[in-house]
Amino acid sequence: MNSLCRMLNSTVGKKFLMAVSGAGLFLFATGHMIGNLQLFLGPEALNRYAHFLQSLGELLWVIRLGLLGLIGLHIGSALSLTLENKAARPVDYSHGQTPFAASLASRTMLGGGVVVALFVVYHLLHFTVRVETVNGTEILFRQLQTPEGHPDVFAMVVAGFQVWYVSLFYVVAVGCLCLHLSHGASAMFQSLGLRSHAWWPVIHKGAMIWSAVLFLGYAAVPGSVLLGYGRGYLESVQQGQTAATAVMTQEAH
Ligand code: HEM
Repeated sequence: MNSLCRMLNSTVGKKFLMAVSGAGLFLFATGHMIGNLQLFLGPEALNRYAHFLQSLGELLWVIRLGLLGLIGLHIGSALSLTLENKAARPVDYSHGQTPFAASLASRTMLGGGVVVALFVVYHLLHFTVRVETVNGTEILFRQLQTPEGHPDVFAMVVAGFQVWYVSLFYVVAVGCLCLHLSHGASAMFQSLGLRSHAWWPVIHKGAMIWSAVLFLGYAAVPGSVLLGYGRGYLESVQQGQTAATAVMTQEAH
């Protein structure tokens, strides 16, 4: 047990933890994008999918805690490795100049990671906790419900992305995430010792292509809402709510 802890606490061990947690988060990012694309199958399909996730009950909490653990491990090992690197090399070799061979993605791994972490906090307040003050609309997301009384996630997503600066923030954050993944996904193979000379170009290209697919998949949601997708549905939901409130007020008199 002690030797396992010592191994995981070494530089190689931290790189291993960063790679494994990064792989888990990469799979989550892919699964979540596929789930989000159900927006294009219409309100019923997206709301059915969201209701299925909610109905997982305790299993949903196990998944959430697992995700939180992966995020903690990933950020913790990244910070610890950065501090170790700085301590080992207090004077910057590059003298403030950009290293010749380093790509934009590899140079922005730490900064980009911080933007993504801040985005995830905002995103959870926006769509999961549904805090009214962060959505930029007059709409209470918690009150958007389907006729069956389940959360109307389709209406919530459309209302959320009709605010242009919220959509812009999402697209920028998802851009940072995909830049981070385009380098991270291939670095992961190296950290796990799976980098072979013959396969390296394939791994490198594959990581770039998949990151671009993720970017387009995620950005399609705010992009299409800004272009008017789902507006009619949201208006009919709001009219239904206004009508129901009017009946309730009349009955109260
Ligand atoms: C345009 C991009 C995105 C859209 C439209 C979107 C949509 C959503 C929605 C609607 C929910 C709430 C689901 C529900 O309560 O039923 C959610 C939850 C979540 N999203 Fe996203 N998301 C996007 C990007 C991202 C990204 C880039 C990440 C992280 C890398 C992320 C991480 C999460 C997490 C961790 C949850 C909470 C899951 C839970 O505990 O219930 N999302 N997302």
